[in-house]
Amino acid sequence: MKLLTSSLDEKLQDAIKKVSAAKDLQALYDVKVSFAGKQGFLSEIMKEMAKLPKEEKPVFGKEVNRAKGEFETAYSSREGQLKDQELLAKVRQDSLDVSLPGPQVAAGAKHPIHLVFEEAISILARLGYTVRTGPQIEKDWYNFEALNIPPDHPARDMQDTFYIDNEHVLRTHTSPVQIHALLTEKPPFRALAPGSVFRKDSDVSHSPNFHQIEGLLVDHKVSMADLKGTITFLFSEMFGGAVKTRFRPSFFPFTEPSAEFDCSCPVCSGKGCRLCKNSGWIEIGGSGLVNPRVFEAVKLDPKVWQGFAFGFGIERMAMIKYGIDDIRLFNENDMRFLRQFTV
Ligand code: PHE
Repeated sequence: MKLLTSSLDEKLQDAIKKVSAAKDLQALYDVKVSFAGKQGFLSEIMKEMAKLPKEEKPVFGKEVNRAKGEFETAYSSREGQLKDQELLAKVRQDSLDVSLPGPQVAAGAKHPIHLVFEEAISILARLGYTVRTGPQIEKDWYNFEALNIPPDHPARDMQDTFYIDNEHVLRTHTSPVQIHALLTEKPPFRALAPGSVFRKDSDVSHSPNFHQIEGLLVDHKVSMADLKGTITFLFSEMFGGAVKTRFRPSFFPFTEPSAEFDCSCPVCSGKGCRLCKNSGWIEIGGSGLVNPRVFEAVKLDPKVWQGFAFGFGIERMAMIKYGIDDIRLFNENDMRFLRQFTV
């Protein structure tokens, strides 16, 4: 029995040492298995107990229980320590250091076309204009007929117009919004119609999908001087003094008289380049007094009502404002181009 007891003590001390040396819960559990597990040391030594004389059995049994108890105490205190350590490590790892600089988030920018729309709208809002919209797939009647563009007019040529079917087109200009406004609103009014338009056309200054802003003023006494004053105000506010502007007689079926509006070329400052086709001028759009035939088409009396209208290419305005020499840049979504418009 003495031998057994001293072997028990030795093993117990050894197991307790291993317990306090265990680096993690798994290592700790391994010590438990080999000392107090089903096939561990304590089970083995209990088998030896059978060989002891009867009166020594209970004494040794007590010894074993004491050893077991001591082991358990050492085990659970080490287990507590290790669990705390693991928790602390996890908390350290997951914790958020709010003083660290955050990841860089790239700021978005408004598209230059959008910027010019916004600016034109806010300038003209000061003259009492408010915004209207119309469909991009437009009835032939609104896009052409009501605007006094007869079926044989060259603007209807298949080369310029995207036809959806016999009755519908992708609107070739924002002027059909004039018709929607005239049919649904009571004059006098001042309307703006910014939007997307479509034509079969593509080169450095033409894109098959581009943008226009339409203006329409309807009142009792309206003159070309009112029109010119409004447009001159818009462009001097938008471009400042650096850009020269000019009014040039022209023709549109829905205005009479008509005038086109040009700005001096921003790329060559009027000297001549590929953008202005060596003329020194960029055409911005058309304008004129509302043709009485348009009023007749919407059942307004042209003896009572007069008006002026204008329609400007937004891409052209953006090219002038920002000195851009190729209209196709607006649709390419090249980040190097777009990033320059970050405010
Ligand atoms: N709709 C014409 C165009 O697209 C421009 C215009 C608008 C002309 C209003 C006169 C009046 O070219």
